[in-house]
Amino acid sequence: FLPQRRNSQGYDLGEPGQAEALMADMAKHRRNDWHVGPIIGGREGQGDSALAVINPATGDPIGQCVEASLSEIDDAIALSLAAQREWSLAGGDFRATRLEKAADLLEADTPKFLALAMDEAGKTLADAIAELREAVDFLRYYAAGAREHFEHAVLLPGPTGERNELILEGRGLFTCISPWNFPLAIFLGQVGAALAAGNAVLAKPAEQTPVIAHEAVRALLAAGVPGDVLHFLPGRGEVVGAALTGHAEIAGVVFTGSTEVAHLINRKLASRNAPIATLIAETGGMNAMIVDSTALPEQVARDVVSSAFQSAGQRCSALRVVYLQDDVADHMLEMIAGAAAELTIGDPSELATDVGPIIDGEAQASIQHHIDTFAAKGRIVLQAVRTGTIADNGSYIMPTIIRLDDIAEMEREVFGPVLHIVRWKAKHLDRVIDAINATGYGLTLGIHSRIDAFAAHVAARAQVGNVYVNRNQIGAIVGSQPFGGRGLSGTGPKAGGPQYLLRFAEEKTISTDI
Ligand code: SER
Repeated sequence: FLPQRRNSQGYDLGEPGQAEALMADMAKHRRNDWHVGPIIGGREGQGDSALAVINPATGDPIGQCVEASLSEIDDAIALSLAAQREWSLAGGDFRATRLEKAADLLEADTPKFLALAMDEAGKTLADAIAELREAVDFLRYYAAGAREHFEHAVLLPGPTGERNELILEGRGLFTCISPWNFPLAIFLGQVGAALAAGNAVLAKPAEQTPVIAHEAVRALLAAGVPGDVLHFLPGRGEVVGAALTGHAEIAGVVFTGSTEVAHLINRKLASRNAPIATLIAETGGMNAMIVDSTALPEQVARDVVSSAFQSAGQRCSALRVVYLQDDVADHMLEMIAGAAAELTIGDPSELATDVGPIIDGEAQASIQHHIDTFAAKGRIVLQAVRTGTIADNGSYIMPTIIRLDDIAEMEREVFGPVLHIVRWKAKHLDRVIDAINATGYGLTLGIHSRIDAFAAHVAARAQVGNVYVNRNQIGAIVGSQPFGGRGLSGTGPKAGGPQYLLRFAEEKTISTDI
């Protein structure tokens, strides 16, 4: 199914007037009176307490979301149990048609989804477009996977007079818990995959970004996904997330978020008196890039700046620590700092903005604490200052570059626009790679070098999931760059890759004497 599928086409923002026209269409969908809540069995639920939904660029509410109640969660589970088998038996083609229809509905509603990505998650126009395209790509890719793997049995050889078939079925009830940094793409990636494989889905979006996820669920339901196999259960992790991972009927959980919460979920699942559940976790990273003295400085500056600061560094793939070879480090650093100083930080609703806000005040304070700690040690190399409109109550962090002696000085992942620089000497290359491996994380690694053998050596020794050579290290493309890490960065399988759906499924072998 890989070669026949086409990814979403997107927009050419270089075309005169294209960005302005999109922004004008989006403006019609910008609201501050959203009111969303749980959807159970295809119907809007009553929910429990209401939580405000905040635009991180301004600190103003865009509406509110009502948290799912514990009795609604029980209802959703009961409906799912009754409906999941039929959904699984309906076959890959039946499910694929509905996921593809949902992808079409999302594209038809482009301005609304872009406006929500901007207002609810603080995405710039370019990031919002990439978000919608990735969401659409995930739905179509997993639809293709459903047809490939779930429509027909695989016939296996056997003795004469016997037919052997291997079939895939949904595991049962899947809890999907998604993050705020890709509130549409990762939300739909998880939900789309779980549905494609024949599971019933209990979907919990991040607390900060329920509205865009609510609208995505409405699109899936409008596309013909039965309400009894897809339930939307927003709310706080410690309440709704805990209920959705502690229930004995949950057969699997797919989670994207912090390593710490992945461990919590793992323990919660293990403590149930129930069959062992599948956990698919995509977690944090301590992502590095190694630059040698043969790398092209202009290319390095461009790729370091986009990897570290695009999306305000709020990508699990984002670059945190760049290693510059000693003899070119001063020149490279000057170019990187020069390019970073040109970034405009501000409200994403302005087209000139390169770097938007941090998701909320709590995240902002935590990043600021990290910066202050290193500022006190005299380690700040650059703090960008070029700003557009910055609202008083918006959450912003100016892109910052910090000097380190070693990656081990990073005590934890800093999920924001903060780049750390380490100098390295050629004779210590393996020591550098081993230090990166020793963090225990293993998500992305960038390499910049014009020596193929250098890149091959680093790629082979590094314990990571995604290696990027002579380019930036963000923005994995569905179907072309399957994405996901190892170690503290996640369990695999890779999202947008050919093995992903299989982890959501059970295998059955049928051997018949004929
Ligand atoms: N999939 C995203 C990327 O590749 C990260 O979460 O940047």
